[in-house]
Amino acid sequence: MKTVFSGLKPSGDMTIGNYLGAMKHWPDQQGSARTIFFVPNAHAITVRQDPVQLKKRTYDLVAWLLTVGLDPEKSIILVQSRVSAHAEMCWILDNYVTMGELSRMTEYKDKSQKLGPEGQLVGLFNYPVLMAADILLYSSNEVPVGEDQRQHIELARTIAERFNKLYGETFVLPVATMPASGARIKRLDDPSKKMSKSDHPDSFIMLQEPLDSIKAKFKKAVTDSDNTIKYDKTLKPAVSNLLEIYSGFSEESIDVIVDRYTNKGYGELKTDLGELVVEKLSTLQLAFNKIRADEQNLERVISEGSEKAAEIANKKLSEVKEKLGLL
Ligand code: TYM
Repeated sequence: MKTVFSGLKPSGDMTIGNYLGAMKHWPDQQGSARTIFFVPNAHAITVRQDPVQLKKRTYDLVAWLLTVGLDPEKSIILVQSRVSAHAEMCWILDNYVTMGELSRMTEYKDKSQKLGPEGQLVGLFNYPVLMAADILLYSSNEVPVGEDQRQHIELARTIAERFNKLYGETFVLPVATMPASGARIKRLDDPSKKMSKSDHPDSFIMLQEPLDSIKAKFKKAVTDSDNTIKYDKTLKPAVSNLLEIYSGFSEESIDVIVDRYTNKGYGELKTDLGELVVEKLSTLQLAFNKIRADEQNLERVISEGSEKAAEIANKKLSEVKEKLGLL
């Protein structure tokens, strides 16, 4: 049975980009594959976090995983800091990747430029190796992520191939899987950039966005020059982004939506999209609030899931230690 594995960092409020590009698709193979999802909280501390907020956000994320339909009876749900094999495996894999390879990671380049020398922590540089450890510990075949994570998963694959060549078949080679549309949701105020929780509030919609600001944000969203609705990422990046968001929430194909808006203008599309997102997010938020209110249950899900995960991860770690001659 193949293994599907992915995770979400608890470093800020989640946006509809995280949802449409990744999380929404995670329950798809539940029941037909071994599905493992996690909260990489050790990745979050590569930038300074308020400990109280970090704890809260970790529970929030576990509650979101349950809200979107992950079932702890069918999927393993874990928190990274509860399974120490992740950190141990990271140290081992550090010796199978070069500074040059890590320097080429675009996420590191972007973040380190933004943060300046003070923020260029070794942990931030090493972030992709911990990610490789996460993935390889569970023999993951598929890693469903948004486009921005593709390079990290390719690096995990390179590390796995290198290790296998030296010590014989040890790691499964992971593949990044992405939705046909929605893998890179853009900022509402600048469609040339990825929507991200760390930018200006007008540029994103959070999953926990107050419902009354959703419509206003879509109304303010930038559009392209002429007033016809077409899906063309190069010539009409802003409208194409709105269409991807529409399609992600309505579950209709982009062609069907474009047909519906023939002879209609951007204003109408933005108003309708605002209403659609309010409807969908209000349902999700209600479900989330209910699940989030029972922190004891979340704690139980985390401890039981992390225990199951540790069993799998420790086995792989022992196999690797054995191969390396680490007593
Ligand atoms: P994170 O927490 O930044 O994002 C979680 C997921 O959301 C996707 N995503 C997007 N998809 C479409 N459009 C967007 N604007 C958008 N923004 C974010 C991301 O691609 C991701 O799939 N490094 C990872 C966490 C991680 C991980 C792992 C993932 C740590 N170890 C092992 C998979 C496997 C991250 O920071 O995701």
